[in-house]
Order: sequence, then structure tokens, then C-alpha cells
Amino acid sequence: MRIPGREATMPSKKATATPSLRPPVVIIDDSNLKQVFLTDVLKNDFTVFAFSSEQDALPHLEEIRPKCFLVDMERPGEDGFETIRHIKAMPVVAKVPIILITSTTDPDTESRVLSSGGVDFVGNRFSPEIILNRVKIHVELYGYRCELEDRVREETHKVIELQDAIMLVLSDLVECRDSMTSGHAIRTRDYVDCLIKQLLADGRYADQLPPSVVRDTVRAAPLHDIGKVGIPDAILNKPERLTENEFKAMKRHTIFGASAILHAMKTLQDNTFLRVLRDMAFSHHEHWDGSGYPLGLAGERIPLCGRIMAIPDVYDALISERPYKPSISHEEAVEIITQGIGTHFDPVVGEAFIACEKDFRNISERLR
Ligand SMILES: [Fe+2]
Ligand SMILES: [Fe+2]
Repeated sequence: MRIPGREATMPSKKATATPSLRPPVVIIDDSNLKQVFLTDVLKNDFTVFAFSSEQDALPHLEEIRPKCFLVDMERPGEDGFETIRHIKAMPVVAKVPIILITSTTDPDTESRVLSSGGVDFVGNRFSPEIILNRVKIHVELYGYRCELEDRVREETHKVIELQDAIMLVLSDLVECRDSMTSGHAIRTRDYVDCLIKQLLADGRYADQLPPSVVRDTVRAAPLHDIGKVGIPDAILNKPERLTENEFKAMKRHTIFGASAILHAMKTLQDNTFLRVLRDMAFSHHEHWDGSGYPLGLAGERIPLCGRIMAIPDVYDALISERPYKPSISHEEAVEIITQGIGTHFDPVVGEAFIACEKDFRNISERLR
């Protein structure tokens, strides 16, 4: 790597780290004398890159990937606070500690340095030991922080993977019991994903659909019928149309599902995924005009995840063949859903469905 600037490449005899292990540190200081002094102080423990101005330094930061900055506050034509702001705006170095060098002893400057993102500052008359130790401390802390963030990321990823696997196992179990709706659970996940993307693209319900809710809603979709495990086989797998009483019993899958999730929520309080799953299991058969079940909720009293799931659920049922009914074409299904907008379905979600119905057809063909 060839970087313009003053780089210390000659470790002294009492060097404590090999050059490849010396973390890179960037100095931005217009004083040649201070650059030489600081480089000399740090060069045994760090690979030092010194620049006279922010303008010279910034283009090289991505390549250097410093572990600490030493920035002179008072440089001709450049403001130290602006330099902090510019460094913080670069994602690759945004979290790297910045130590400010200033001749000011004013407490306001001190608090401004700290509140603007600097981690520490030293006066112009610093001792070599102080500056070396401060840089060492901040580089070490930054290392711990990066390590911790990596571990949290890794662990979070593992937990999400495990949750996804459990979701899959559970939705497979539901489908094992309900032999008539093969693949329904997985298909509804992709339809829900598609519908939410369309809503967000249209700027609809964006305030209720932040990324975490979107993720939870899509992940919850394959389990919307989880309560069917509580329905007797004779009803669940009956090849003929259900009688009125049987249909009444079937409707209870919404309550069984929500109750099971509620049980889990008692041990995992404030779990947003479970809350979305409970609402979806409970409300995906409610109708916009209040004629659905189990509660006959109407309009926006129906949770949004239930209003969204209602369309994929009906669409998939319509285009799927059952022993008691033939499948209908995509076009016919779109027609039936369009007629239900404003009565069965939320008008906003219905509008989004019309805008992305071709994607529904692609999903159904891909997953059939
Ligand atoms: Fe259902
Ligand atoms: Fe369903």
C-alpha cells in the first residue's frame, strides 16, 4: 500500500509489535514538527500515517482502515469539528475513535469535542507517555467494541436461522395434519412478502411497516393456520364440504392458534414476532366490513398483519384444487378478490394486490 503522507516504517529497537501487527493510526496535523514528534512517539506500537490536512487524509481512509485518529483542532482553513463530522460520515471509519489535539483549555470546547463524536482530547503540550497510553487505550477499546459487535451479529444470525428452522418444522407439522392444503403455508409467505413490498412501494401503511415488522410478518405467514393442529382429523381432512357445525368447529383454528401463541408470550414478554404471529393467527379470517370471524372485527380494528394475510390466504385457496372443489384460474381469482375489496378485504391492501397480481401468478407457478 503506497499512501502519501508521513508513514513511520522504521520500528526502533524496543519495538513491541511486528509491523504487520501494528494497528494503523492516522494523524491529521498541519504542523510538520508535531507530525514528526507524534510519529516518533507512536511508531513502535502503531503504523502511523500522517497528513497535513483533512483533504489529503480522507481519500485514503478506506484503504488504511485506521484504528484511531489524532486530529489537530486548529488547522488553517479547516475546522476540527467539521473533520469529525466528515470522518463520522464515512461508514468504514465512522466508529473509529478520534482524539483531538487542541491548544484550547476552554471547558466548552471539551464538551463540544465529546458531544460531536470525539472520544478524547489532549492539549498541545502533551507528554509522549500520555499520548501513547491514550492511543493504546482507545485502540484497545475500539478492538473490543468491534469484536463484541461481530459476536452479537453472529449470535443474532444464528438465533434467526434457528427461529426460521423452527418455523419451518412447525409449518410442516401443520401441513402434515392438513393433507388438503399442501404447500399453502410456504406459498402464503411469498405472497405476503410480495404484497408488503407493493404496499411500501406505494407508500401505503409505511408507518406501520418498519423493517422489523415486515420481517416478523413475512416470517409469521407460514404459521397463520397453526391452530389447525387443534381441529379433529375428521373435520380437517374431510373430502366433502363441511356441514354448518363442522365449519363452526373449523373456525376455532383462529382461537386455538392465538391461544397457543399467547401461552408462549407469557414466557417471552415483549416479543414482537410472537405478537405479530398471534394477531395473524387470530385475525386472518376477519372481514373489512365486520362479517368475518372469530370476532367480527371491522376496518382498522383488524390487525394489519391479518388484513394483509387475508388476500394471500383466499387467493391460494381459490387457485388450489380441493376434493370438494376444482381450482380456478389466476384471472378468476383476481376477479373474485377485486369484487371483495372494501367488503372482505382492506381497500388499501386490495389496491396493492391488484398492482402486483402478476407477481402472485409467478409465485404460484414457481411454488406449485
Ligand atoms: Fe385459516
Ligand atoms: Fe390459510
